[in-house]
Amino acid sequence: MAVIINVNGSGHSVDAHGDTPLLWVLRDVLGMTGTKFGCGIAQCGACTVHIDGKAVRSCLLPIGAIGNRAVTTIEGVAATPTGAKVQKAWLDLEFRHRRCHGRQHLPLRHLCPHPRGDQARRR
Ligand code: FES
Repeated sequence: MAVIINVNGSGHSVDAHGDTPLLWVLRDVLGMTGTKFGCGIAQCGACTVHIDGKAVRSCLLPIGAIGNRAVTTIEGVAATPTGAKVQKAWLDLEFRHRRCHGRQHLPLRHLCPHPRGDQARRR
């Protein structure tokens, strides 16, 4: 069964059942491995993505429940100017715990949304 989802600004037709968790579609079907598996029970945040700008755990979210909403993964966030700066700051601090990356990075992105976060830093 084909399901169409919008990830990082691009539409994808994926051959998966609507009950399949988004995390596995991102990783196994679309090859976006920046979103990590940790606990599988929506507790650790390793699988965090944005759905229409809101942080959501993808490990329990069936792709059939997404509809037309926009999914943004860590790859999509990293492609923005603010996301790239947050990612660089993380790497500068030698924060390399891969499971926690999405859990930490995506909520931080909310704290300094582009362009306001960039403007605040210039002051
Ligand atoms: S894998 Fe831990 S919250 Fe999803």
